Amino acid sequence: MTINDEVVTREVEPRVLLVHFLRDHAGLTGTHWGCDTSNCGACVVWLDGEPVKSCTVLAAMAAGHEIRTIEGLERPDGLDPVQQGFMQCHGLQCGFCTPGMMMTSRWLLDHHPDPSEAEIRECLSGQLCRCTGYDNIVRSVRWAAEHPTKEPV
Ligand code: FES
Ligand code: FES
Repeated sequence: MTINDEVVTREVEPRVLLVHFLRDHAGLTGTHWGCDTSNCGACVVWLDGEPVKSCTVLAAMAAGHEIRTIEGLERPDGLDPVQQGFMQCHGLQCGFCTPGMMMTSRWLLDHHPDPSEAEIRECLSGQLCRCTGYDNIVRSVRWAAEHPTKEPV
């Protein structure tokens, strides 16, 4: 598969989940493993440009496909505005949910550059945060929407 524009080839058992492949075989521990039951959304990555919970996908199913993880969110010239928004608006506390939140938020803004608060909440509704109460996460995404070309930091 291709991960963050790099071809990665490994032999794995058929039962290996994509989230474990990314963390344990590819060394990309930015994708978090929170529940393994498709509830928390900490494991969200993009599969061919669409957000998926990587605990619901077998690594073998991703063979030949393109994966993007939080490690691939940063732009060549600096942080993505979503990352900057989470910094500016304190969109995280422990940070466990943050990679998944950011991947889904970037996808939302790529498809809907000016989402309302309700639309942000709906888009992130498949992901749980046990710290923030969500308000600052929503503010962070709105910040990114309002600063789409913010100078890199
Ligand atoms: S680890 Fe995938 S949804 Fe929780
Ligand atoms: S910041 Fe702790 S779970 Fe979201």
